[in-house]
Amino acid sequence: MTSELIQALEALEQEARTAIPATTTAAELEQARIRFLGRKEGRLTLIMRRLGELKPEEKPAVGAVSNRVKNAITELLDAREAEVATAQRRSSGADLTLPARRRWQGALHPVTRIVDEICEVLKELGFTRARGPEAETDWYNFTALNTSLDHPAADMHDTFYLAPGILLRSHTSPVQIRTMQKYQPPVRIVAPGMVYRRDPFDASHAPGFEQLEGLAVDEGITFVDLRATIAEFARRMFGSQAEVRFRPSYFPFTEPSAEVDVSCTVCDRIGCSACKGTGWIEIMGAGMVHPLVLEQAGYDAERYTGFAFGMGPGRIAMLRYQIPDIRLLYESDVRFLQQFAL
Ligand code: PHE
Repeated sequence: MTSELIQALEALEQEARTAIPATTTAAELEQARIRFLGRKEGRLTLIMRRLGELKPEEKPAVGAVSNRVKNAITELLDAREAEVATAQRRSSGADLTLPARRRWQGALHPVTRIVDEICEVLKELGFTRARGPEAETDWYNFTALNTSLDHPAADMHDTFYLAPGILLRSHTSPVQIRTMQKYQPPVRIVAPGMVYRRDPFDASHAPGFEQLEGLAVDEGITFVDLRATIAEFARRMFGSQAEVRFRPSYFPFTEPSAEVDVSCTVCDRIGCSACKGTGWIEIMGAGMVHPLVLEQAGYDAERYTGFAFGMGPGRIAMLRYQIPDIRLLYESDVRFLQQFAL
């Protein structure tokens, strides 16, 4: 009985070895699949139905042969399927030697990539992504940030006004105010977005460009926290060798204020064209949030302190990808963008 079933299985395999390679169409192949492996009436099923006639100790041997035969037939079917498909494609008249048409591939803009990277690094340091409107009131853009409207930055010649009191934000700092009005401390946000200034469109200026704001407010935050955060950010962004240097500066909404440089990773501080021979590259403005700003936003300036910083992801993209002219970033020339397709 055992040997009879094994013989039947082996005969079935032999039959499949000639029948399956002889099929020429997908339909024929499908018929063969049903004939050999069909669950109800397939030949393998019919043989295995007789397994019940065997003594229990005889079953494993037959089962093993059955598995092997099933795998062999499946392999035959799969192999033939690929062959039949290729043959059908060949006979369809298509010229397979023709080079494929090149297709346009989308890509993330280099500035978007840098923004995402900065946000990712700052996320690990506890900062949440936030955003604010590009059309702002002069109160958010200037007044709440301790900048009086007769400050040169608020001048008609330096800012795009849309209507009286409404303008295209000239920096992302208004998001500081909007965030503090909405949330109580502790807050830690990073706010990327476009900003606009009446600047010429030349190799190093654009009337619209990307900026990225950072803000942290809590009890007991000091300049040490600012320095440590920026130093850690620089190491993660530019490599473990990167160092930062703070230079005294002035912004109406921070006190004290600083300009932050990162050591030039292109030349390792020896001096090159990227750092204009100085060994350092300016990457952001920063400082401790001015108490008047905290108060404008409704915070208790006796209880809370904080730091803020603002940087230009476009400049970082230019450094990273050695882009010589800022106009390339904002003119959306496909020939330029295509280089960033992955
Ligand atoms: N808003 C400033 C600018 O546009 C940058 C800045 C942000 C400086 C936050 C200090 C703190 O130049």
